[in-house]
Amino acid sequence: MPEEQVAPWMENRAVYPGFFDPITNGHVDIIRRGLKIFDKIVVAVLKNPKKNALFSTKERVMMIQEIFADDPRIEVKAFDGLLVDFARRNKANIVMRGLRAVSDFEYEFQMALMNRKLNPEIETLFMMPSVNYSFLSSRLVKEVFVLGGCVKDLVPKIVDRKLREKLKSGKRFFPINA
Ligand code: PNS
Repeated sequence: MPEEQVAPWMENRAVYPGFFDPITNGHVDIIRRGLKIFDKIVVAVLKNPKKNALFSTKERVMMIQEIFADDPRIEVKAFDGLLVDFARRNKANIVMRGLRAVSDFEYEFQMALMNRKLNPEIETLFMMPSVNYSFLSSRLVKEVFVLGGCVKDLVPKIVDRKLREKLKSGKRFFPINA
């Protein structure tokens, strides 16, 4: 095979895990940056019944699917259990995570090393978002939104719409812990 051709079985895949309650422009920014490196990114949405989520797993998955509906390089799946097992089942040996500030470092460092201990074949790759989003988190988005602040520039359109629908439906936003 000529050198330039990449065989399909050599597809370069990463997993991008998170709780995504909801996905923000910061997450979208990291995914788009990841697409410069990877052929395929599997967005792994944690199903966590212990976390007090505003959006159900189905809603969190659906919003991300809608945002990337035109891009076949993005696949969105819900998962539970160990992330390294999910990555292996999905034939990815890279876990991609965003790193916003020094404050993220300790938590991310612990997770990356634990994942390496669990499966030394899997590497964690950190990417920095645009400075415009370096202060952004799902938790802050929900807090600002429920207190009447504008989050239009901080989340994809579908998320802004779904936040409004939640508020109208009378869904309790507090406690906000993710
Ligand atoms: O959006 P978050 O809350 O920062 O994402 C955290 C996530 C989903 C990456 C992390 O909780 C996770 O990987 N959970 C799966 C369980 C697991 O594998 N735990 C051991 C590794 S630390």
